[in-house]
Amino acid sequence: MDTYYFESIDSTNVKAKELASLGAISGTTVWAGYQSEGRGRLGKEWHSIAGNGLYCSIVLRPELEVEELSKITLVTGVAVGTLLTELTGKEVQLKWPNDIYFSGKKCVGILAESSPLNNEANERYVVIGVGINVNQSLVDFPMELRSTVTTMYEEAGKKFDLKKLLYALRERLISQVNMFEQHGFAPILAEWRKMDFLLGREMECVDVEGKVVRGVSRGPDSDGNLHVEAMDGSLHRVLSGDVRLATKT
Ligand code: BTN
Repeated sequence: MDTYYFESIDSTNVKAKELASLGAISGTTVWAGYQSEGRGRLGKEWHSIAGNGLYCSIVLRPELEVEELSKITLVTGVAVGTLLTELTGKEVQLKWPNDIYFSGKKCVGILAESSPLNNEANERYVVIGVGINVNQSLVDFPMELRSTVTTMYEEAGKKFDLKKLLYALRERLISQVNMFEQHGFAPILAEWRKMDFLLGREMECVDVEGKVVRGVSRGPDSDGNLHVEAMDGSLHRVLSGDVRLATKT
């Protein structure tokens, strides 16, 4: 499995997709010390502070039906979340669909991107981008983020070797995706639910019909879609989009 390191790059996801479309094998990994255009879901920016975070993208070619690919983000959440708990000794929470938190503060973002849907089965790939705040101190972040983010260093009180962390993450991710291929989504969803940050909390989101819903999170279903129970008791399904804790009115 090839591993490419760049001191500086626009986005490791962009590079990994380029390599995948040229035929890179499953497990091919791109990581960088700094990203000038690190990207998050919904076009958001990902702050890539030079040298102290892990910014990586892993090409996978899982044997899964196209409909199953959307669950890869949750599968990655379990893989990375359990690894971080082991390494820091602190419990993580998974915020649907792609964030990992410690004590309500974001430490990890996941951006999974698939090949174009019309690709032949043998050309299909998924690129799993993971950004982890590792050795930064809170003061390294812009003032406006300091109350909402955390790092492995802040949680564990020690620094981590980025390369070792990358290899551990890749190994864990590949074995979690193998489990998904062999045993399906149910056992992974059960693990995910144990770490669910939003479960039972009041939140706001946009449902599949584009309606803004304020309600209580009932967690993801067997398709990986979030269910939200509105104040009038109606149930709404959220496919993707932004979900946030409701502010008091
Ligand atoms: C999010 O929080 O919405 C997801 C953030 C994902 C960031 C990672 S960093 C490595 C990879 N390259 C990118 O441009 N994005 C992902």
